[in-house]
Amino acid sequence: MPQVHAIDLRSDTVTRPTEAMRQAIAAAEVGDDVLGDDPTVLALERAAAARIGKEAALYVPSGTMANLVALLTHCGRGDEAIVGSEAHILHHEGAGAPALGGISLRAVPNDARGRIAPADVRAAFRPAGAPRTALVCLENTQNRCGGAAIPEREMRALADVAHAGGAAVHVDGARIFNAAVALETDAATLVASADSVSFCFSKGLGAPVGSVLTGPRAFIDRARLIRRQVGGGMRQAGIIAAAALYALEHHVDRLADDHANARRLAAGIAGAPHVRLDPQGVDSNMVFFELDGIDGPGFRTRLAEAGVLCSGMAPQRMRMVTHLDVTAEQIDTAIERIRTVLAAVPAARAS
Ligand SMILES: Cc1ncc(COP(=O)(O)O)c(C=O)c1O
Repeated sequence: MPQVHAIDLRSDTVTRPTEAMRQAIAAAEVGDDVLGDDPTVLALERAAAARIGKEAALYVPSGTMANLVALLTHCGRGDEAIVGSEAHILHHEGAGAPALGGISLRAVPNDARGRIAPADVRAAFRPAGAPRTALVCLENTQNRCGGAAIPEREMRALADVAHAGGAAVHVDGARIFNAAVALETDAATLVASADSVSFCFSKGLGAPVGSVLTGPRAFIDRARLIRRQVGGGMRQAGIIAAAALYALEHHVDRLADDHANARRLAAGIAGAPHVRLDPQGVDSNMVFFELDGIDGPGFRTRLAEAGVLCSGMAPQRMRMVTHLDVTAEQIDTAIERIRTVLAAVPAARAS
C-alpha cells in the first residue's frame, strides 16, 4: 500500500488536483456534452485543437480511449495498423483495437531510444490483395523507451513513408508536451506531419481525468459517433474539463521543472552500486535503470518501506517518473533513500 507521505515516482498519473484547479472545477459552467452544449468541454476542445495545430478535438475519459477511437475511426475491420514494438497501444491498452475493431496491429522494431527506422515501416506495408495497411501509429514521448522525445524531422520521415503508402498517421502523444518542452519546440510543430494526435491531461499536465483526440473536423465528427459507441459520451463533463483546461493553460511550461528533476535524480543514482543507468538517456520526466546483482522486486519493496515508490517495467528494470507533486528537495530525499536501500538489499545469489 502506498504510504500517505511517500514520494510517489510510480507515474505522472498520480498527481492530485492543485487548489487553483479545484477552484476551476468548482466554478465550471456545465451543460450536457452528449447533446453538445457543455460550454467548458467546448472551450477545452477548442483550446486543445488550437494548441496542437489541428482543426478539431474530442474530449474523452482516457488516453486509451483516445487511441482506441483514433484506430476505430481511421481503420475498418480487417485493416492493419503499424505500431512500434514498444508502443503503449500494443502493450497496455487491452488489445482494444483488435478486440473491438477487428484491426490487426503489426509491430515494427523500436530501438532502445524509441526510434523506428523508416525502412522498417516501408517494409511492413502489405502488398495489394493482402489486408490494407490503413494507419501508422507513432508515440511521443516514447514511454517504454525511457520517455524518449522524438524530434520533428524523425516524425516527419516516418509520416512521409506512411503517406506514400496510402496510410494515415496517428500520434499517441499522451506526453506530447513533455516531448515539445524537451525538444524546445512547440507541440503543433512537432505533430504537423500527423493526421491525428491524442494527448492526456491526466499525466504531466496534472489534471485528474481526461484526454483528447485531435484531427481534421470531418475525422473528429466521425470519431464523436465512435466515442458514443464505446461508451465515452459524458454528460456534465465540464466539471472535469475545467481542470483539464486549467492544466493546459498553466502546466505546460513547468514540465521543464519535471525534466530538470528527472536529470537530478538520474545524476544522483547513476554510479550507485548495482545501478545501470545512463543519465544522457534522460530526455523528459522518466528515469529508467536496470539493477544488477540484487533482486529487483525486493528492492522495490524495501524502497516502498523507506517511503519512495517506483514502478517495475520488468523484474530488474525500474522506472521513476517526476511530476507536479514532486519537488527538487523530495528528489534529493529520494536519492538518499534509494542509495541507503541499495546498500542494504542483500546481493542476489548467482544462479
Ligand atoms: C504513451 C501512453 N499512451 C497512452 C496511455 C493511456 O492513457 P490512460 O492511462 O489515460 O488510458 C498511456 C498511459 O500511461 C501512455 O503512457
